[in-house]
Amino acid sequence: MTGPVTMSIASVADMLTFGRQLAAQIRRGDMIALSGNLGSGKTVLARGVLEGLGHQGEVSSPSYALVHPYDPPHVRLPISHVDLYRLDDPAALIELGLDEARTYGALMVEWPERGGPGFVADALHITIEPEGPDARRLTVAVPRSWETRWPPR
Ligand SMILES: Nc1ncnc2c1ncn2[C@@H]1O[C@H](COP(=O)(O)OP(=O)(O)OP(=O)(O)O)[C@@H](O)[C@H]1O
Ligand SMILES: [Mg+2]
Repeated sequence: MTGPVTMSIASVADMLTFGRQLAAQIRRGDMIALSGNLGSGKTVLARGVLEGLGHQGEVSSPSYALVHPYDPPHVRLPISHVDLYRLDDPAALIELGLDEARTYGALMVEWPERGGPGFVADALHITIEPEGPDARRLTVAVPRSWETRWPPR
């Protein structure tokens, strides 16, 4: 892994474009971890990714179910959109079946910190910080598995 990379995003439209570019690179076994405060734009980025994979329609934080799976033919690759905000105990993670989901598809996880230490170890880990009403700064930890795929375009 190289050091973290930073990027500036000017608008919601740019965030969606970046998500679609990420989607073009995603493959089975990947985990994209999305950190940032409430309202920072994690779900907007997730929507860009899901649209890039072919999903049409709404995308909302899967806050209550915690996991929202998307499967072909609606997307080109199985992907589970996960929101761990309401996970109180990392021990309950096992019941979400994420390890299995990752064997046949990809994971995209909001609030990955709730998964406990080490949860993001080999993830493409994106942290979003507001820089103004519409501007966002992304800090990205690029794992070895993404080195040849970075930057996405
Ligand atoms: N450049 C931008 N990228 C993403 N969202 C933006 C941007 N500029 C403004 N926004 C606004 O910020 C909000 C981001 O909401 P979003 O639901 O994506 O946050 P979140 O990080 O998923 O929050 P939560 O932790 O509650 O799930 C939206 O209202 C969106 O319109
Ligand atoms: Mg969200």
